Amino acid sequence: MHDFHFVGRRLFCEGVALESLAENFGTPLYVYSQHTLADHFSKLDAAMAPVDHLICFAVKANSNLSVLRVLANAGSGFDIVSAGELSRVLAAGGDPRRCVFAGVGKTEPEIEFALRQRVYCFNVESEPELQRLNRVAARLKKIAPVAVRVNPNVAAGTHAKITTGTYENKFGIAFEQVAGIYARAARLKNLRLRGVQMHIGSQITETAPFEAAVKKVLPLVRQLSAAYGLEFFSIGGGLGIIYDPMLASGRPAWWRTPAAKKILTPASYAARILPLVRPLGLKILMEPGRFIAGNAGALVARVEYVKRTGRKNFVIVDAAMNDLIRPAFYDAYHEIVPLVKKGGAAVSSDVVGPICESGDYFCKNRPLPKVGEGDHLALLSAGAYGFVMAGNYNSRPLAAEILVSGKKFAVARARQPVKEIWAGEKVVAWLK
Ligand code: LLP
Repeated sequence: MHDFHFVGRRLFCEGVALESLAENFGTPLYVYSQHTLADHFSKLDAAMAPVDHLICFAVKANSNLSVLRVLANAGSGFDIVSAGELSRVLAAGGDPRRCVFAGVGKTEPEIEFALRQRVYCFNVESEPELQRLNRVAARLKKIAPVAVRVNPNVAAGTHAKITTGTYENKFGIAFEQVAGIYARAARLKNLRLRGVQMHIGSQITETAPFEAAVKKVLPLVRQLSAAYGLEFFSIGGGLGIIYDPMLASGRPAWWRTPAAKKILTPASYAARILPLVRPLGLKILMEPGRFIAGNAGALVARVEYVKRTGRKNFVIVDAAMNDLIRPAFYDAYHEIVPLVKKGGAAVSSDVVGPICESGDYFCKNRPLPKVGEGDHLALLSAGAYGFVMAGNYNSRPLAAEILVSGKKFAVARARQPVKEIWAGEKVVAWLK
């Protein structure tokens, strides 16, 4: 559930009409609901309450400083994958000692920075990385806390580009090799074996793949924990969200308020996973990104033109694949609703951006209410992997981001000035 809903004909985020935000701040515009962020965090936190646990929000999903601060205030730790993300957590007032550092390609400077900041754990993805970590820690006269990421080779039933837990993927260490790696790691003097980690993929909408992966890895966790006195087991992120309530309700999306679909919930997830992990007696870590932020954000765009060809009705908006790449990259579905409902028959439409690529679309042949120049549309569920994946293709500035709380709203990131796009560039000397 989330806090984007219609009041009469107008779409609101909490107590603020999105149309007024679009008029105030221009478009494309990302809008986030503080209540949804905090609510999703606390629902998951409450569901996990029967075990000692730490939820580490995956910063890659949404790294806006205000979003991070909302979650830090709610008690969240953070899953980071770069020095940049760690710096953001620090800038947002997050606690580095509640950060886990993941990723297959940690550089020496990144490891050094994270060690100095005393992150809770390094989730290690290869043997050379273990050695590098040990070497850097020795140089700094520190002990690096370590968990090895186990690749359980379990199919997650999600999109190929966001499946991570099979041997076709670059992630983690093959299940069969993990025990040997811990044995070798235990001999490295500047490492402290602190936990075991796994993550099987993203946008997983059923509990079964999580259950299968946990069940497969449990005996190994038990064995490693007994041998090395581990402190935690991280079961990763990957909890899926509803992108398409139309499928759930069978009703056109633009005239109904968000409906719950029978999908994995914190309660259904916990009901299946807690009985498995509780007997371990270990602290349980989780790294959800999308579940917390996905439905907490929308991207608002203005209709610039409606172009009817013989075959198609193209709605050309001022947001593009550089602002939200998920439809172009994953064929992802985002619900699209007008900010003000006008009624009338639905028109089969392609909503497209202005970028010179055929992939620059947000939907194809979708029945949408009739819109015209100057109307606004919201692309819902854009709070995770939305702004963070934006770029400057076609020299388009990064969109502004707004945080809403009740009737309050404020700029959480100013629209990027055009000149900033090339601020680091210069015409080289010999061309002058
Ligand atoms: N932990 C690890 C080790 C991960 O690789 C990821 C996501 C997460 C946690 C958080 O997963 P989540 O709870 O958000 O599903 N850009 C794609 C998603 C990429 C996910 C990458 N890893 C998308 O837009 O769908």
